[in-house]
Amino acid sequence: MAETTIKRMSKLTGVVTVPGDKSISHRAALLSLLCTAPLEVNNYAEGDDCARSLDAVRALGGTVEQEGNRVRLTPPVGGLKTSSETIDCGNSGTTLRLLTGLLAGAGISARLTGDASLRRRPMQRIVEPLRRMNATISAAPEGTPPLVTGPGEIIPIDYILPVASAQVKSALLLAGLASGVQVIVREKIVTRDHTERLLQHLGCACTTEEVTPETIVDPDDPRRKKKIRATDEYRTSVTLPARQMLVGGTVDVPGDFSTAANFIAAGLLIRGSHIILKGVGLNSTRTAFVTILKQMGAEIAIKNRTIVCGEPVGDIEVTYGPLKPRKISGDSIPAIIDEIPLLAVIASQNEGTTIIRDAEELRYKESDRIAAVVRNLKAMGVKIGEFPDGFAIEGGAELNGAEIDSFGDHRIAMAFTVAGAAAHGKTVISGSEAVTVSCPRFFTMVEGFRS
Ligand code: S3P
Repeated sequence: MAETTIKRMSKLTGVVTVPGDKSISHRAALLSLLCTAPLEVNNYAEGDDCARSLDAVRALGGTVEQEGNRVRLTPPVGGLKTSSETIDCGNSGTTLRLLTGLLAGAGISARLTGDASLRRRPMQRIVEPLRRMNATISAAPEGTPPLVTGPGEIIPIDYILPVASAQVKSALLLAGLASGVQVIVREKIVTRDHTERLLQHLGCACTTEEVTPETIVDPDDPRRKKKIRATDEYRTSVTLPARQMLVGGTVDVPGDFSTAANFIAAGLLIRGSHIILKGVGLNSTRTAFVTILKQMGAEIAIKNRTIVCGEPVGDIEVTYGPLKPRKISGDSIPAIIDEIPLLAVIASQNEGTTIIRDAEELRYKESDRIAAVVRNLKAMGVKIGEFPDGFAIEGGAELNGAEIDSFGDHRIAMAFTVAGAAAHGKTVISGSEAVTVSCPRFFTMVEGFRS
């Protein structure tokens, strides 16, 4: 296991370009398997997770030509090939869940697994709705990988997501696309919509409809009006009509917001910092971290907004400044799910107690991120209380360098590198190699700011 030592840093100033977005890169790679012509992807994400999606494309008969971060993906001649070898998705839940949907929908026999962390993660959430689509799919008895798919007569589905998960939504959309049946996925809480945007960009008639509230006369008080929704069961319906085709084309991947978030956090934690992040994905289903930080008083400006391949992109300018605490819970959680370890680190420096609830999903990520954050912030001298679905963090603590355990989780390793850069003394991250799944150059990028 690798160890990386971080020493306290003084103000961070400069311009950073973060690697390509992981979620969009996975989707581009996997969707290429269903395209009718080659797909050119620029700024494909670095790191092992997205490399696993490329390996899977090769295993299923696709051709991958890679030159740096430019990838040309040619769909398999004569359709998807059954893979006789197990597809190893490594640490990547997105590869495993999305690809299982695609293969189950296409009726391809395959076996998919991953590393020890991925083999502990819940898969029943995709197995259950895929079975409703009549797919042949099985999981280990605990509802975990390996997953095995096979031939099936796929039928349409109209499904309300019981867990707010973009991976589940996307698995079903890919199953519909691969089988040619209609899929409707309804969400109570909106999750990242990169699949829907990419499907549209590549020529698919995928649509999203919101259940907007209607204003009616209040039957209990006819002098008043009130807003009601036709249903409380869901807020949005995503529809993929039957028999959609994907043409090839070009996908320009924006910078990864979740990687950028580490530098936003560093800029807010280290006195005197001023950082500009160029060309970052600003999809609103991902950027609640910035919205919440601004509500806490952060000085963050978004500049040069534009739309690239259906995704909002722009530059983020961050200036150091003290923040106030906030309670974060409910519908905003899925939109900050990957940034919560960073929010917890930031909260330790706020002027008061920050509470984060309704985030039990954190326990099912690459590590149990609630336990990991509690353990590591305590080690750095922060007072933190643990709930089953979150934590309460007492602000104003002096962060002290400590022995940090990444628990093999890239987001924990990166968040506590940022904490280490703001802390007094020396911080040692054990299991620091975890960063290679999403940002292999992370430590070099951080050290690049040392003056
Ligand atoms: C992802 C969705 C989220 C997120 C993960 C990437 C995606 O997971 O945490 O890092 O690319 O769809 P869930 O859909 O399981 O919440």
